[in-house]
Amino acid sequence: MNATPTPTALVTGGSRGIGAATSRELATRGYRVAVNYFSNREAADQVVKLIEADGGEAFAVQADVHDPAQAAELLERSAVDGRLDVLVCNAGARFTPTAVQTHAWDDFKTKVTDELASVYTLTQLALGVMNARGQGRIVYVSSAVADGPPAPGMAAHGTAKAALNTFARFVAHEAGPLGINVNVVAPGYVRTESSAQMPQELQRRLAENTPLGRVAEPEDVARAIAMLVGEEAGFVTGEVLTVDGGHGVARR
Ligand SMILES: NC(=O)c1ccc[n+]([C@@H]2O[C@H](COP(=O)([O-])OP(=O)(O)OC[C@H]3O[C@@H](n4cnc5c(N)ncnc54)[C@H](OP(=O)(O)O)[C@@H]3O)[C@@H](O)[C@H]2O)c1
Repeated sequence: MNATPTPTALVTGGSRGIGAATSRELATRGYRVAVNYFSNREAADQVVKLIEADGGEAFAVQADVHDPAQAAELLERSAVDGRLDVLVCNAGARFTPTAVQTHAWDDFKTKVTDELASVYTLTQLALGVMNARGQGRIVYVSSAVADGPPAPGMAAHGTAKAALNTFARFVAHEAGPLGINVNVVAPGYVRTESSAQMPQELQRRLAENTPLGRVAEPEDVARAIAMLVGEEAGFVTGEVLTVDGGHGVARR
């Protein structure tokens, strides 16, 4: 008798922050998780250990998702036995908030193209692998900044994430007939290592201006991603799900 194969998920930047929480959340839901990381092997190993301690399955895979050759190898290594059920493109491009007036074109362009580079090859190849089984789920991690309000120094980041949201809609349109759902999660501020430099006072004000009364933890976003890859979201595709505790309702 054949054992039921374990569904497989790849989470880019799965070793820290939102990605680490997503890796753990998907593992608790029965996925074997490929935990991608770039430079910090220790953090990736730690996520794998935590998943295994909870009885789940995971493995760490190093790759720079901005590099098409590395992205292709990452996908191949993650799709165990040629099977990939879920792709979460979470690793974004690093940036330093900079005003348009002082932002050199080359740096602005790099930010926008890096954001798209980090999803493009993976998307192309995942569609091929998922198409073979006639099913799959892709979730891109964008940002509420894509829709504003314009924040100081965030033009490149917001433009890059807005491009990602548009790309996702086109992919959803092409992928639907293949049985593949494609959605976006757009968090507001989330308390992670990379966002920790935000002044405490600003974090306090953000929480005050958030109807749900606090800023997001990585697990809040991870659960939204898990919902989008779950059965309950089977007829949802091409959507951008904002995860900001209601912070943006005033401008919607
Ligand atoms: N935090 C927020 O407030 C917030 C808000 C809205 C949207 N987001 C979006 O959420 C996503 C995750 O953000 P985060 O705050 O959780 O980030 P984070 O805590 O800084 O974690 C970044 C993760 O991405 C990996 N990574 C970085 N560059 C990579 C590359 N070139 N190739 C492969 N992996 C790479 C890192 O691996 P190493 O440690 O090995 O380098 C790490 O696992 C991003 O797309 C970000 O734009 C974040």
